Amino acid sequence: MFFCNDALHPHGNGLGADEWWKGAVVYQIYPRSFKDSNGDGFGDLEGIRSKLDYLQALGVDVLWLSPIYASPQDDNGYDIADYYDIDPMFGSLADLDELIAGLHSRGMRLVMDLVVNHTSAAHAWFTESRASKDGPKRDWYIWRPAREVEGLEPGAPGTEPANWGSAFSGSAWEWDEGSGEFFLHLFSRKQPDLNWENPEVRQAVYAFMNRWVDRGVDGFRMDVINLISKTYPLSDGPQGEGDLYGSGFAAVANGPRVHEFLHEMNEAVFASRSAQHVITVGETPGVTRDEAALFTDPARAEVDMVFQFEHVGLTDGPGGKFDPVPLDRVALKRNLADWQAALAPVTDGSGAVTGEEGWNSLYWDNHDQPRAVSRFGDDDPAWRERSAKTLASVLHLHRGTPYVYQGEELGQTNTVFGSIDDFRDLESVNHFHERVGVGDDPAAVLDGLRPNSRDNARTPVQWDASENAGFTTGTPWIDVAPGAAEVNAAAQVGVPGSVFEHYRALIDLRHRDDALALGTFRLLDADDAASWTILREHVAADGAREQLLLVASCSREDLETGEGSALRGRLAADGLDLGEWDDAERLLVASLPAAEAAGSGTGVPERLGGWDSVLLRRSL
Ligand code: NOJ
Repeated sequence: MFFCNDALHPHGNGLGADEWWKGAVVYQIYPRSFKDSNGDGFGDLEGIRSKLDYLQALGVDVLWLSPIYASPQDDNGYDIADYYDIDPMFGSLADLDELIAGLHSRGMRLVMDLVVNHTSAAHAWFTESRASKDGPKRDWYIWRPAREVEGLEPGAPGTEPANWGSAFSGSAWEWDEGSGEFFLHLFSRKQPDLNWENPEVRQAVYAFMNRWVDRGVDGFRMDVINLISKTYPLSDGPQGEGDLYGSGFAAVANGPRVHEFLHEMNEAVFASRSAQHVITVGETPGVTRDEAALFTDPARAEVDMVFQFEHVGLTDGPGGKFDPVPLDRVALKRNLADWQAALAPVTDGSGAVTGEEGWNSLYWDNHDQPRAVSRFGDDDPAWRERSAKTLASVLHLHRGTPYVYQGEELGQTNTVFGSIDDFRDLESVNHFHERVGVGDDPAAVLDGLRPNSRDNARTPVQWDASENAGFTTGTPWIDVAPGAAEVNAAAQVGVPGSVFEHYRALIDLRHRDDALALGTFRLLDADDAASWTILREHVAADGAREQLLLVASCSREDLETGEGSALRGRLAADGLDLGEWDDAERLLVASLPAAEAAGSGTGVPERLGGWDSVLLRRSL
């Protein structure tokens, strides 16, 4: 069944049909943890379809599904064995068609994950590639002979072509006994890297992308897409003292042909469909702001936006993410503002936006990150709701496309891990065994894993207070997080003041308010760790000026905002007179149901309680 996207209309904001995506909010689904329809313990497409009314009520415009293609599931689907088919654990192609129809009939769109830096080792391409050194697909992957080391057999540890570690522990090179060479895998050994230098590989990728778009898919989230161009020759990277492996990052990220490849993809798949605008977001670990400006400059026709990693890397310690350090909130505020500046729109003398040279994506969490409220807010039961709502306001007040990760709209928290047996993710499990294998204290390794393991985000969505949180009637593949009896959708949808209703109000506002969707951005009082103040401004064609101001408390302490307060003084020093906002309309207050914000008064309250926030609007 094929569908035409012409029936999909953009929301307001004066955006043209090909610009619909700039006013959109994306919701990410990790299918195996979203909703199980058949009791096998894994979420599936029919489960997603059964929740479309819920997603429509939330108001999101686009669903991004983490991979649902045929896969051995070594990395939960990020190891694809057939790009043309759906894994039976999720359903069938017919189920996908029905999901697309259900979305399109609601005016929503579907983004598929595109994992093309690597395939599964079970993909027929790789089977053929490894079969012989001279076969036609040998060059579709990255093969290298063993390094000659005296006293070592080719293939033995120490003879790898380069000293790089893989993202999931161990070497990034795997010896293939049959053909007598190593192949590169930046992720698990069951995820061999494709060789994008080979034009046949690229054409094969564009071919299946076109098939999915023809089928009704509206866009792609491109997995680690800035790793597809490597810098040759592949040689040793820096290796710190005590490190088990060297880093291949410089040789594999943002390589010399990455922009050429993305532009070529754009021409081959998206250019002829510009009227509908296929939405694209590149996942780009380690991307710099300068690189991101190139990737997202519309004039270059590469991708619409990228996921950058700087703000989620702020809690990485010297030993990486499993050696976490406390969050520096000033660094976080400044970092997000720096990204705003790097991808800011072009404005004229009046402050009106006259063009775009880049675009930001906005996210707190996803299937690879811990839960937003646990990492950036305060998941203590006394503060969880309020901080989840204030975090939502802060993120959605930035300029760019907001991504809501399943369960974030409910304020779901990190989970509790008793022992290594509670983890499912290969990254966590491999890291534990590697570190314990070299003599680290197992308890200390577990402590490092707990806050940042990807499994925190992968526990099931909490639908209600029943057994397994209403996710499955069977045994869930990963335990439901504690607290589901209180934190769940049934307790929040339609309940004034809930986290869900706060997200709904923010998303609705973006659809109706030009300043929120498109206005310029300014961070004020950047160096205060206990508050977050953001100003947005939109100048319409007739010169009418609209401003939004968010003032947020970011700690358990009250935030004094009245006459003579320290905050007022600092804002004045930044050129903002809070007194001028005394008559401004209150749009959202985190401690109040959305419907009560306007009636609660005007301007900033004299004092905001811990983690409270107020969003104001005024016209000039
Ligand atoms: C990034 C994905 O988000 C992550 O889940 C996956 O493990 C790696 N890329 C490898 O595909």
